[in-house]
Amino acid sequence: MNPESPTGVSRPLYRELHLREVLWWGTTWGQKPTQLIFGPECCDDLIFAMAGGTGALGKTFVERFAQEPDIKLVILSRGEQKASQGSIHHVKIDYDNVQSMTTELERYNVQTIISTIGLISEETSQSQLNLIEAAEHATTTKRFIPSEYSFIQTPDLLSIDPSIQYWLHAADRLKASSLQYTRVIPGFFMDYWGMPHARTHLQPFKFGIDIAGAKALIPGSGNDTICMTYTYDLAEYMIHLLKLEEWPEFSIFVGDETTYNEMLEIAKEVQMIKAGRTWLIAYDSIEMIDSGHVTVPDMPDSTMSQKELEEMTALVSRLTVNGVFDLPKENRMSDRFPQVRPMKVKEFLGQCWGPRSETKLL
Ligand SMILES: NC(=O)c1ccc[n+]([C@@H]2O[C@H](COP(=O)([O-])OP(=O)(O)OC[C@H]3O[C@@H](n4cnc5c(N)ncnc54)[C@H](OP(=O)(O)O)[C@@H]3O)[C@@H](O)[C@H]2O)c1
Repeated sequence: MNPESPTGVSRPLYRELHLREVLWWGTTWGQKPTQLIFGPECCDDLIFAMAGGTGALGKTFVERFAQEPDIKLVILSRGEQKASQGSIHHVKIDYDNVQSMTTELERYNVQTIISTIGLISEETSQSQLNLIEAAEHATTTKRFIPSEYSFIQTPDLLSIDPSIQYWLHAADRLKASSLQYTRVIPGFFMDYWGMPHARTHLQPFKFGIDIAGAKALIPGSGNDTICMTYTYDLAEYMIHLLKLEEWPEFSIFVGDETTYNEMLEIAKEVQMIKAGRTWLIAYDSIEMIDSGHVTVPDMPDSTMSQKELEEMTALVSRLTVNGVFDLPKENRMSDRFPQVRPMKVKEFLGQCWGPRSETKLL
């Protein structure tokens, strides 16, 4: 038997028949067909469910996944069910009802769940824990990627950021389950320094370097390493990650590494066109950061209160000066996919803020 194909047919023929099956399922996809060319086992690995696929990061993943002809995506959402679009199906779920979620996962033959739930509260954390439980019960579901997409969160960091408990609870729950899982770690998202020019779904926020306002309000010495990845590059990496059979506990992706001081120099350089611009540059001391009285960049359009902006700035400054964005260099998952050429900070800032930056460039 051909090891690549459960039926023993050659790989190209298997792929062609698989695609025929996808076409044959057509608009009734998700409702159990009366007859399958192949059993469900031959396309399991191509059916993903995305919890939170309506959110900022989720939408980015959905956009990229929709370009893959051999991926079918089920978006799990609390919102009203929408009509299917091509290979993307929307399913309304109740995160409080584990049994009903299990039923939906089995009905759609979901093998892998990618969670991009915005983990900001006990409620959102519990939703993800319930989804993990549903996945464990579902006979079709074998793999789970929890919502994380940040730095490596460990218990020793709880004193800096108590909300890390939500990520740790999910990791502990997955560890105790029979599910295969990996925690995706892309560092900081590069998108923040390209707003409003960069193509992104992330909510606007200014961290450290405010290029539009020519202000650098830098935490600490400005020499802490920050590993960062553009969200669309992470989406690209996710395609490759999802097709791997084995996953490590942490899948680290790094698009580029920089520091605030380096970024400031690049920002000044790419903005040579606006020569004569005077930058305001200030460094928040460790004492200021520890006390929470940090310098907050101007964000007049933010929906957050000034207090919330200060808390968020102080939190991210504390994390930065504690080195959490300096991700391990060994065994990075991004090194396994050299065919992906991620955006570098210089290129990104050049495209967003250079001479051609009057229009949206990315
Ligand atoms: N490293 C970085 O720089 C960085 C930056 C931003 C985000 N992130 C990470 O990326 C992940 C996704 O963040 P995001 O900003 O994309 O999230 P988001 O837009 O705030 O939320 C994503 C989705 O979560 C769902 N959701 C909200 N409350 C829920 C609840 N109680 N139960 C279940 N689902 C709920 C919503 O979907 P429905 O309403 O459709 O159910 C929402 O669209 C998070 O883990 C975040 O930490 C990392």
